[in-house]
Amino acid sequence: MFILIIFLFSFPSLMRDTPPKLLQPHGSPTKEELRKERRREANRKCAQRKRKREQEAFQELEGSVAKLRTEVQLFHEELTRLHKENKELDEENNSIQEEISKMHGMELSAKFVISYAVDEV
Ligand SMILES: *[C@@H]1O[C@H](CO)[C@@H](O)[C@H](O)[C@H]1NC(C)=O
Repeated sequence: MFILIIFLFSFPSLMRDTPPKLLQPHGSPTKEELRKERRREANRKCAQRKRKREQEAFQELEGSVAKLRTEVQLFHEELTRLHKENKELDEENNSIQEEISKMHGMELSAKFVISYAVDEV
């Protein structure tokens, strides 16, 4: 029996959900034993609730992490899209600028031709 108790104490996880009667080898329990037993039971329940709360908090955090990962992924996709759009607008701007300088050049030539023609008259 002593060996059994030693064995149980070396593996607290075995004792955690084991009915406490196993730990009382003989006789009817004294008031002190009953009080200690109630205390143990209350502690056990308390620890159980604490584990449950911790598990719930952990699951909530996991949920938040998953949500944030999705958000980061979406922001990343949006950033890539905006980069691409910016590049396209930049190219469009460049070709418009090119068009403007061509027209400016043509305007200058036309002015030159006109002024030349006017001078000739
Ligand atoms: C468009 O191109 C011109 C000439 O290269 C540049 O000065 C201007 O800042 C550009 N506009 C934008 C919005 O990038």
